[in-house]
Amino acid sequence: MNTFVILLNNLLHMVTNFDKTTYRKGTNSVKWDLVDMIFKGDDLLPMWVADMDFESPECVKESILDIANKGIFGYSACLEKYYNSIVKWYYKRHSTIINNDWISYTPGTVTSLNMLIQSFTKEGDGIIVQQPVYYPFFNSILNNNRKVVNNPLRYNNGRYNIDFDHLNKIIEEENPVMMILCSPHNPVGRVWEKEELTTLSYICNKHNIFVISDEVHSDLVLFDNKHLPYIGIDTANILNSATCISPSKSFNMAGLHISNVIIADSKKREIFRSHLNKCGIEWPNIFATEIQSVVYEKGDLWLKDLIAYIESNMLYLDSFLKLNMPEIHLVKPEATYLAWLDFRNLNKEETEINKILINESKIALDYGSMFGKEGNGFQRINVACSQELLKKALENINNTLFRK
Ligand SMILES: Cc1ncc(COP(=O)(O)O)c(C=O)c1O
Repeated sequence: MNTFVILLNNLLHMVTNFDKTTYRKGTNSVKWDLVDMIFKGDDLLPMWVADMDFESPECVKESILDIANKGIFGYSACLEKYYNSIVKWYYKRHSTIINNDWISYTPGTVTSLNMLIQSFTKEGDGIIVQQPVYYPFFNSILNNNRKVVNNPLRYNNGRYNIDFDHLNKIIEEENPVMMILCSPHNPVGRVWEKEELTTLSYICNKHNIFVISDEVHSDLVLFDNKHLPYIGIDTANILNSATCISPSKSFNMAGLHISNVIIADSKKREIFRSHLNKCGIEWPNIFATEIQSVVYEKGDLWLKDLIAYIESNMLYLDSFLKLNMPEIHLVKPEATYLAWLDFRNLNKEETEINKILINESKIALDYGSMFGKEGNGFQRINVACSQELLKKALENINNTLFRK
């Protein structure tokens, strides 16, 4: 069966209705309530930040209500059930076995990145990132007085790739001690293939570079792609990596602050845990402890429907652009609900495009240079919303960007 037929079949059998358009103003939402302040606009449609406009699965709401109804909100702990749920989920989704003991709870992946940097590097050390990339990667490095060692992704024939020649060169020149890998990659939407990850891990292990594999988007893989955990690529990776995972992106629960770090090496894990302890990061909130187990146990079907809906939005976006704005090109999405759009054919400066998008289209997109200078000329749009809202956003852009 081809992709389109599979997608149609999935859409026809969907149980969850993602077509509901939800306006979230007034809910203390970063995406909706801070958008005008951050983008300096007025009544903007928020198509930025990685947060979906969909309600979480029913089991999440039920679990929260159940905990809330008990009415006691004392300290809570991650028990065996919490860790088991991750181990089972990771095996079910990615066919990779991890151990309960390897997992540490943290309140967020960006927190984890900072804590890992502080645990395993010292001031002035070089850390590799591959721009354009999720901006907290390089901000975490800079905020901790480490040095960003950039290995820009190469954009060839409409697809982004890792530049291994350049990687070898900067390792020789700058002697970095760590790499932060985005897998799948935000914002360019790549799902790294086995060959790419194998080469990468060979190079990193050879030079004793500790890899943080940020896999928070690994449940949201689209079409025929398959996520491969970095830890499963080579046995050496088990001792020389940390993996960040979380149910936040998959089930739209970033506000609940549940995130996990997998470190197999016991000595490194103790260093990391002792650092968390020094920073007072220990007990999770009472909802987090229960909800992760619930959603990992019961969320499969909802997630399947979600992926089908995102795929259909990606296809809708692609055909809308081809029909109405062929100057804007969608970089083929392999994962995430974040689409990376190439605006360079418009021959306009990013600031000029931003001005039109904000002041006339009334849309907030994440502009490309936020992700490093390599993102200049691109924009990131979040398609995790009803197709009606996506259509509205695209029509607004079409009616304004091409008017002059
Ligand atoms: C690659 C990546 N890592 C981490 C995060 C943020 O995770 P958290 O909210 O758990 O800090 C995001 C959010 O967009 C992301 O795209």
